[in-house]
Amino acid sequence: MPSLSLPADRQNLRRVLRAKRRALSPFAQKKSAQLLAHRLARLACIKNAERIALYWPVDGEIDARVLQKILRARQHHFYLPVLQKFPADTLAFARWYRCKPLHKNRFSIPEPVGRPLFFAQEMDVILLPLTGFDAQGNRLGMGGGFYDRTLATRNNLKQNRHGKKPLLIGIAHACQQVPALVSESWDVPLDMIVTDQKIFRI
Ligand SMILES: Nc1ncnc2c1ncn2[C@@H]1O[C@H](COP(=O)(O)OP(=O)(O)O)[C@@H](O)[C@H]1O
Ligand SMILES: [Mg+2]
Repeated sequence: MPSLSLPADRQNLRRVLRAKRRALSPFAQKKSAQLLAHRLARLACIKNAERIALYWPVDGEIDARVLQKILRARQHHFYLPVLQKFPADTLAFARWYRCKPLHKNRFSIPEPVGRPLFFAQEMDVILLPLTGFDAQGNRLGMGGGFYDRTLATRNNLKQNRHGKKPLLIGIAHACQQVPALVSESWDVPLDMIVTDQKIFRI
């Protein structure tokens, strides 16, 4: 397959890959989620992370929320993205407690109601949903650019309280891999990609 860079190519590819992940059976989704979570839980960067940003899976996205159950005994705090109006169409992160209610945002994705909100740079690890990816760490999202906008200044940001920038780990079903994606100037590069089958260290 040739590398894809034109906006129309990106849109077509998103359509194909979204249909592919939505076609996974509930059993396949569950198995994929379990394999991913156990693979993530064995990583030192996850074991050592206090603040881990997850996301609420939609549209057949791989579900990393199982990680919260696997790691519960250890001292980890989990966060979910909360859409921000200022700066427009960026994400902040709020602590996720299973016992507390969530409310749906304008895309009908559940978000924590509670405050405080944290900036991306206050997370130790951010797990990003991938619509498509390649082995070089290029990420294709859903087309909204929310994570790109949120992390645009990552390289200029102050380091977090552990003296590190948040580690960006893209997660996906293995079937969402493509041979090559052309990244745009604004696409945020990932540090690692983890699927139900494999770890890609970039
Ligand atoms: N740092 C940024 N500042 C402003 N707009 C941005 C930024 N990053 C991305 N965008 C906008 O988001 C749109 C979608 O980005 P794209 O990378 O295609 O989506 P996704 O990352 O969701 O696949 C882009 O067309 C671009 O206009
Ligand atoms: Mg992008």
